[in-house]
Amino acid sequence: MFLGLDLGTSGLRALLVNDAGAPVASEAESYEVSHPHAGWSEQDPGHWTEALDNAISRLKASHAAELSAVRGIGVSGHMHGATLLDDDGKVIRPCILWNDTRSFEEAAQFDALSGVRDLSGNIVFPGFTAPKLLWVAKHEPEAFARIAKVLLPAAYLNYHLTGDYFADMSDSAGTSWLDVGGREWSADLLAAGGMTAGQMPRLVEGSEVGGLLRSDLAQAWGMSANVQVVGGAGDNAAAACGVGAMREGQGFVSLGTSGVLLTGRDGYAPLPASAVHTFCHAVPGQWYQMGVILAATDSLNWLSRVTGAKPAELSGELGDAIQGPERLRFLPYLSGERTPHNDSHIRGAFLNLGVESDRKAMTQAVMEGVAFALRDCAEAIGQTGAELGGLLAIGGGTASRFWVETIATTLGLPLDLPEAGDFGAALGAARLAMVGTGEGAVEEIMTRPTVAHTIEPREDLRPAYEEAYQAFRGSYPAIKSLG
Ligand code: XUL
Repeated sequence: MFLGLDLGTSGLRALLVNDAGAPVASEAESYEVSHPHAGWSEQDPGHWTEALDNAISRLKASHAAELSAVRGIGVSGHMHGATLLDDDGKVIRPCILWNDTRSFEEAAQFDALSGVRDLSGNIVFPGFTAPKLLWVAKHEPEAFARIAKVLLPAAYLNYHLTGDYFADMSDSAGTSWLDVGGREWSADLLAAGGMTAGQMPRLVEGSEVGGLLRSDLAQAWGMSANVQVVGGAGDNAAAACGVGAMREGQGFVSLGTSGVLLTGRDGYAPLPASAVHTFCHAVPGQWYQMGVILAATDSLNWLSRVTGAKPAELSGELGDAIQGPERLRFLPYLSGERTPHNDSHIRGAFLNLGVESDRKAMTQAVMEGVAFALRDCAEAIGQTGAELGGLLAIGGGTASRFWVETIATTLGLPLDLPEAGDFGAALGAARLAMVGTGEGAVEEIMTRPTVAHTIEPREDLRPAYEEAYQAFRGSYPAIKSLG
């Protein structure tokens, strides 16, 4: 048995899988994000460990025998968060999360330093870890002076589980302190960020064992004395492991709150200027690249709040098959945008509103706006030399066939819809534990889910969607110049 832990932004999920990699049981616990000021987003790491204890207690109550057979644990975590520990391993202040934008000025300054993009392979986005520490140094100097270790959320859970400080490459790649090509902490980046190598956790690959489960936890959870904890992964890398998106030509489109277009890479081919994220994968010798849009189903949820109709009701009005793009155009920049614009100030828009523009037209425009933004991501990833293909469509938004067909036609690529099942970040984390403990090789364990059906691009409609996409593409500079 193996345990995958997914430390998410809104809750923690613990998933037990058997030696064949099949899910056996899972428990979830939610917790809050606090926003003490506009743009701030924090969490108390104590809530993560409390959620973990509760989830495991419930698993113990329902599946004690399976839990006692656990041999390996993997953790997936929301990325970029800064958990600051003192000399005694105590948390100094609440963790500053990935979606906290307070350090946007520090991010721009760090990003402008020569060599930073070259070494880290990425733009220094405001949510990344290094600018957060520059902010703490400036605004909370007493806290900064006490920092003995900086841990990402998953690495904090590794520490809680084992008492050792270790972090995996995929998550560490989102700090702006890692030499992402060399897979090691960069002395230059750390120095530029006012940090030291001693404040960093030991680096391991996500599928490499980092430590052993603490004996007191093993006893309380009814586990054996030698449960191994692997490096784990940042949530996107873990999700990729969960669906077998490891190598060139394997990837996914995820329609969640935010939208992600991700592909595995066999080599390191960064292109920071495109605002594509280039991170180490959670297994040795692999990287992945992704475009991130900040409002995917969040755009439909926004329309749902405004219209008072549930998202499923809105998408139901469109039917299953696309018929051609709307004249109404939606720019989904409700929370700013990462790829390709790297613009936290831009906001969304409807263009071409007419007296005939009804709720249905707005829903279609919203879905198309998200599809066009994902096409922007595909174009940006294409500039790095990656060939997109073998794409799965995952996430809540894929319940709408109309939306998936819109995206397939806009990308000009078939999208595979997996059979219902469990293939998220928790499964990816459990799979990393399977590889780490020697259960099998990466290609045996990180398999693709069974495909229920494939949505092909509508060739007859591609020219119309292409034209609409080009108009969408021209809209960003235009609204930018107005704002
Ligand atoms: C990736 C990113 C998010 C977080 C939270 O760069 O910011 O995916 O990991 O899910």
